[in-house]
Formats: sequence, structure tokens, C-alpha cells
Amino acid sequence: MPKSRIAGIGMYVPQHVVSNNDLTSYMDTSDEWIQERTGIKERRYAHRTQETTTTMGVEAAKIAIDRAGITAQDIDFIVFATLSPDYYFPGCGVLVQRAMKMGEIGALDVRNQCSGFVYALSVADQFIKSGMYKNILVIGSEKHSFGLDFSTRGRNVSVIFGDGAGAVVLQPAEDEESGILSTHLHSDGESAEILAMYNPGTHANYWTSQQVANFDEAEIGQMFMSHEMIDNAQNFPFMDGPSVFKKAVVKFPEVIMEALNTNGYKPADIKVLIPHQANLRIAQFVQQKLGLREEQVYNNIQKYGNTTAASVPIALCEAWQQGMIEKGDLVCLAAFGSGFTWASALIKW
Ligand code: ACO
Repeated sequence: MPKSRIAGIGMYVPQHVVSNNDLTSYMDTSDEWIQERTGIKERRYAHRTQETTTTMGVEAAKIAIDRAGITAQDIDFIVFATLSPDYYFPGCGVLVQRAMKMGEIGALDVRNQCSGFVYALSVADQFIKSGMYKNILVIGSEKHSFGLDFSTRGRNVSVIFGDGAGAVVLQPAEDEESGILSTHLHSDGESAEILAMYNPGTHANYWTSQQVANFDEAEIGQMFMSHEMIDNAQNFPFMDGPSVFKKAVVKFPEVIMEALNTNGYKPADIKVLIPHQANLRIAQFVQQKLGLREEQVYNNIQKYGNTTAASVPIALCEAWQQGMIEKGDLVCLAAFGSGFTWASALIKW
């Protein structure tokens, strides 16, 4: 069974830089608070009308496809990871297929939030290994700036997130040694509601059973997303930050060690660890726990904030562009996020 390898990688971040100080005009926060708790100095926000999650994904994809030495028409499958799609449905995968004038190939959207890209990579890896496809485009992209509460009420969430996209082209590996060695996927839905966006949705939790029983059909038809929900700011993400932090610092090291143990490696063998850029403090904790040197862990949350499904491919792309990753190097991707879901991938470059 052939392994799969990353044949091309690309990233795209919007031009518009938003500093921590810029946010102070909307909410009661400070550069000091944000940097101390998260490490973030600035983030990018997409152009309001000309950029969407899909268009940013397409920009990253063009670079990845070019670097793979193929054309968009050679792509035979798309996997798109995002939590901020252009439309509630259809997903962004088909919009990429249309924008890049690809053939009538399959397009799959993955909804695994911060772990989305590693999950998407794992799905693509299985299709390459089975021999079903030869050139799979995997994208992680987010336009968070369109769905955040910029008032003081939403400050614990809104200061963290930024926009951007990353993409890779996956192909069968040319030799037996290199490629994706293994991927590891996990979930625990027990805490699904502590990092979530509840609406729009088909749950009826927002109302009491009595209210729902008294609704007429027209009112029931609006339960997916109502004016009342918007008036009460129920259309924004919710995060119990401290609980997320506690779980993340356990699951990140666990899933990284799972990848290393599966393949007979130790933390010292990792050339570069690319952790999902959730929070610099989480990444530093993981580094310490695994006994990694600072140069073994790539972080860029300082510049881009947390870009959810885009953070791993953006960081991987930057590390590669900076010459930190060369043929034969051991690279570990790891992510943790809403669900909870967590995942890792170990790659011999
Ligand atoms: N600016 C100023 N003050 C703030 C802000 C802000 N942006 N946000 C919250 N505060 C205040 C709170 O109101 C609270 O004030 P109080 O003590 O008067 O009530 C105080 O700061 C502490 O709030 P906490 O939420 O307890 O802050 P904490 O120290 O836990 O830091 C943070 C919050 C940074 C979110 C932290 O919990 C964290 O990093 N959690 C991990 C979650 C994470 O990384 N999420 C990213 C997305 S999920 C993912 O990618 C895995």
C-alpha cells in the first residue's frame, strides 16, 4: 500500500492587519491582557465583501497546486475543513470545485473545527493509500471576522480568532520511507457544549418545553434561527476558556505521544512539531511536557491569532517556507478543539 505525501503546500492570509490595540475601540480589553493570556499580538481580517472562506482557500490551493507541479484540473478529490463556511449549505468544497474550474470530482466538507485540517488530511490519506485518488486537495480555511461578538460581552472569544487559509496537495509517495506515517483521530462529545456555536441549529434548548408546545407551525419553522436569538446574542460562539485549556494540555501531549509510539520514535526525534495555534500558552505547556526544545515547535499565533482549521496548514507552510523542514525530517501535526476532537499526523518529509 503506497503512503501519501505532501507534494505541494500553500497559504493565504488577508492583507488587513488588526492589532490588539485596534480591538480596544470596540471592547474593554488591552494589548497586555491579550498577549499575556494568549501570546497574540495581531491577526488578519478578510476583506468584507471580496474575500470569503472559499476565496481564501482557493488562493492557498493555487499555490499548493503550483508547487506540486500540477494543474487544478489534475485534482481528483477535494476535502475542505472549516467552521465558518460561505453558506450553511452547500459546503465550501463544491465552491472550490466551481471557482477552480475542476472536473465533476468529489468534494467533501469536514466539520471538526480546530482539528478539522488533521482530520481532513487523514481522510485524504486513506483515499490515496487505497489507490482511489492520486491528487487530493486538502484545504483548511476560516473567515472568523464575520461571526464574532465585538462587544465586551464577547471579548474572551473574539480577541483570539483570525482569518486565513492553508492547503496541501496529497499524492502517492515516490519512495517507501517518506510520507504520512500515521494519523490518529479522537473525540469526546461529553463536553460538546463548552466550546460551541449553538445557533443556527435544530436543538430546541433555547426555549422551554412549554414555549415550544405553544408555538404554531410558523413559529416552529423559525426555530433554526430567530430574531429573538440574534437580539440575545445567541448567534455567536461560546467558549468556557479555562475548561478548554485544561483538557487541551492533556490531550495534545497524549495524541503526539500516540503518533510517536506507533512509529517507534521519541520526542527528541521530531524536527518540527506543528501544534494547532489555539493559544501560545497551550503550545508552551505541551513543549515543556514533552521536553522539546523551543526550535522544535513552530508557533505563529502571535501574527495570525487562532485560525481554527487553517492554523495547522498555515504554520506548516510557513515553517517549510523558512527552510525548517527538509527531506527526511520528522514532522508532527497535532490539534485539539471543539467537540472535543483531537488528532495528530506523523510525517516523514
Ligand atoms: N480582555 C480583558 N479581560 C478579559 C478578556 C479580554 N479579551 N476576556 C476575558 N477577560 C476577563 C474576564 O472577564 C475575567 O474577568 P473577571 O475575573 O473580572 O471575571 C478575567 O479576564 C479572566 O477570565 P477567564 O476567562 O477566566 O480568563 P483566562 O485566564 O482563563 O483566559 C483564555 C481566557 C485566554 C480564553 C483562556 O481560558 C484560554 O486560553 N483557554 C483555552 C481556550 C483556547 O485556547 N481557545 C481557543 C479556541 S479553542 C481551540 O483552538 C482549542
